[in-house]
Amino acid sequence: MPIPTPSASLEPTARHVPAQRLVVLGTGGTIAGRARAAGDNVGYTAGEVSVADLLAGVSDMAGRLPALAGRGLEAEQVAQVDSKDMGPAVWRALLERVAHHLARPEVAGVVVTHGTDTLEETAWLLQAVLSPAKPVVLACAMRPATALVPDGPQNLMDALCVAVAPGARGVVAVCAGQVHQARYVQKVHTYRLDAFDSGDAGPLGCVEEGRLRVWQAWPEPAAPSRALAPLLASGAWPRVELVTSHAGADGALVRALLAASDTGAPLRGLVVAGTGNGTLHTDLQDALVQAQAAGVVVRRGTRCAYGQVVPGPHDAWPDTGGLSPVKARLSLVLDLMG
Ligand code: SIN
Repeated sequence: MPIPTPSASLEPTARHVPAQRLVVLGTGGTIAGRARAAGDNVGYTAGEVSVADLLAGVSDMAGRLPALAGRGLEAEQVAQVDSKDMGPAVWRALLERVAHHLARPEVAGVVVTHGTDTLEETAWLLQAVLSPAKPVVLACAMRPATALVPDGPQNLMDALCVAVAPGARGVVAVCAGQVHQARYVQKVHTYRLDAFDSGDAGPLGCVEEGRLRVWQAWPEPAAPSRALAPLLASGAWPRVELVTSHAGADGALVRALLAASDTGAPLRGLVVAGTGNGTLHTDLQDALVQAQAAGVVVRRGTRCAYGQVVPGPHDAWPDTGGLSPVKARLSLVLDLMG
């Protein structure tokens, strides 16, 4: 049954069911992707199928799961993008809509359909800003909606089940039956259906036939960050860039950013993805000292997929506290706004 665009509803069918509703916000991604040839898993356009249609596609299956039967489901299209193009405009709209729906007493949780490529950044932004006491579950897919065997419908179903699980709270991502916390989730594979990993922490749990098995505590809720209001207001977010230390990293990129800062948006922060335990090429380090002298805030992470920077007594810059460089970049944006 097709569900028309924004805020279309699938009303509960049974009278005795709980009143809690679930809201599914669409932002695009491969889960909403369409290929010209059925069965093409790679040559497709992300962000084409409406979230209402994605939800309609699983509504029969959802109705058969005890956890979801009779729930009121709402679909709302917030954006329709390939998540490689994600940025403040969509994030602003998403933050506003998620905060709006979470504040509705009848809403039990929010599911966000999202591309896999920057899912971890959106997840961390939502967690860092909203620290929600209700669940916000990101759902994605590695194959387009038109694939012969798409993974999106199962991932969406699993995400809906997580959103109604007893005790669920905070921002998590669901992919290939695994539930990952926003803080730890990272895309680690270009093609596999289980493309995500939670590093040393491991997944929070898994979903099996609509039932959730949990191995870790849910993220603690907190008062929303002070950054929400300035983030939602129009205007540019503080400019924070990401640089990587590598063989031959001579700092030219940092000096170019500083030079551009004189004429364009001022550079406010730099996150450097160091080698190993956050070590930096000496020439890059010199350029970062120069940036710091110009008022740029510097944070140091690691380009390693596992582990985190273990701080030492002579570190020149604070480490990212275990956040991946892309998430640390967002945290620094928030700090500079807070
Ligand atoms: C995207 O991130 O929007 C495209 C890739 C994907 O969802 O897997």
